[in-house]
Amino acid sequence: MSPVGSKFAFLLLSELLLFNLGKSHQLIVNYYNETCPRAEHIIKQQVFSLYKKHGNSAISWIRNLFHDCMVKSCDASLLLEIKEEEGGTVSEMKSSRSFGIRNLKYVNQIKQLLENECPDTVSCADIMALAARDAIVLIGGLEMEMKTGRRDSRESYEGVVEEFIPNHNDSLSLVLSRFQDIGIDAQATVALLGAHSVGRVHCVNLVNRLYPTVDPTLDPDHGEYLKRRCPSPNPDPKAVLYARNDLETPMVLDNNYYKNVLGQKALLLVDQQLGFSPITLPYVQQMASNNTYFLAQFAMAVLLLSENAPLTDGGGEIRKDCRRVNK
Ligand code: HEM
Ligand SMILES: *[C@@H]1O[C@H](CO)[C@@H](O)[C@H](O)[C@H]1NC(C)=O
Ligand SMILES: *[C@@H]1O[C@H](CO)[C@@H](O)[C@H](O)[C@H]1NC(C)=O
Ligand SMILES: *[C@@H]1O[C@H](CO)[C@@H](O)[C@H](O)[C@H]1NC(C)=O
Repeated sequence: MSPVGSKFAFLLLSELLLFNLGKSHQLIVNYYNETCPRAEHIIKQQVFSLYKKHGNSAISWIRNLFHDCMVKSCDASLLLEIKEEEGGTVSEMKSSRSFGIRNLKYVNQIKQLLENECPDTVSCADIMALAARDAIVLIGGLEMEMKTGRRDSRESYEGVVEEFIPNHNDSLSLVLSRFQDIGIDAQATVALLGAHSVGRVHCVNLVNRLYPTVDPTLDPDHGEYLKRRCPSPNPDPKAVLYARNDLETPMVLDNNYYKNVLGQKALLLVDQQLGFSPITLPYVQQMASNNTYFLAQFAMAVLLLSENAPLTDGGGEIRKDCRRVNK
């Protein structure tokens, strides 16, 4: 073999080795192809029928994936309900950052069907990710090929949720750096926040922009509207007082969010700030002017988020019940 030929063969060999070594620790497309061939189909069907009954469930899958993936890993740690008496940490749902998270219970329904179909095989983390993927299509987003093979954590990270998930009024630089930490750049962060084109915000997360005076960066008419939705500066957190993110297409994932940012009608401070920074404004403008572009960027960003630090062969487990670690 010529020296060039053998060098080529060496490169090829090392690439093959790297590929095979790496493979067992990576997510792959169609991970359940042989072990549970109907898994993705069952999840899609369930997400669809839940959406027909409870349209909001589609919105919830998306937020819930963010809260699961952003904290350490996409590992279903959000779902654990470990009681303090049992010597465990408490649930991530107890964190104030989880305020308003709804419809988590549906994952258990899907998990049950998958346990009947192929026991101990499909992780809760993959169900969360695939369900979000399928929900996105139902509300107007693009179809995505999503890798699977995530495993479930054996821990809940209640104590550190706030180190990963920003607050509604955190600075843009903090928000960008939290996403940067998991490999999501400014453009992808702007795209991901487009999820706030659907769903709602409770008054507790709004009143600091309304009282004692309306935040000057909020459109005055919209400020008056929000004050009618949230008439008290001290809302009872248990009262279900809220405003919708997008008054025009509240149940559709679209670029109205960016139009609202440009029109100073975005609800959270973290949303509105995207319109005031030279780092993010160009992306906001581009997404506001082209829904196709937004949807493509959103899909790419969701895939990135869904691949954050997965537990693969190296750790975790396949939970039998998404709410509890295996005995
Ligand atoms: C800086 C980052 C983010 C912050 C501070 C943030 C904060 C919030 C807050 C405060 C709410 C309202 C909760 C309530 O009052 O009920 C909310 C709702 C929501 N968020 Fe985010 N969020 C962020 C990023 C994301 C991302 C990346 C996604 C998904 C890709 C997402 C998806 C959602 C959805 C879908 C809702 C509506 C939930 C519902 O109506 O039940 N958020 N977010
Ligand atoms: C799934 O597995 C079957 C049988 O092993 C194989 O023929 C097929 O190519 C696989 N499909 C994908 C998309 O991996
Ligand atoms: C952010 O809002 C919370 C209430 O949700 C408040 O306690 C906190 O002081 C606010 N932080 C800033 C920096 O305004
Ligand atoms: C909108 O974005 C898509 C996807 O990036 C692109 O192919 C298309 O040319 C854009 N349309 C306009 C009018 O700029």
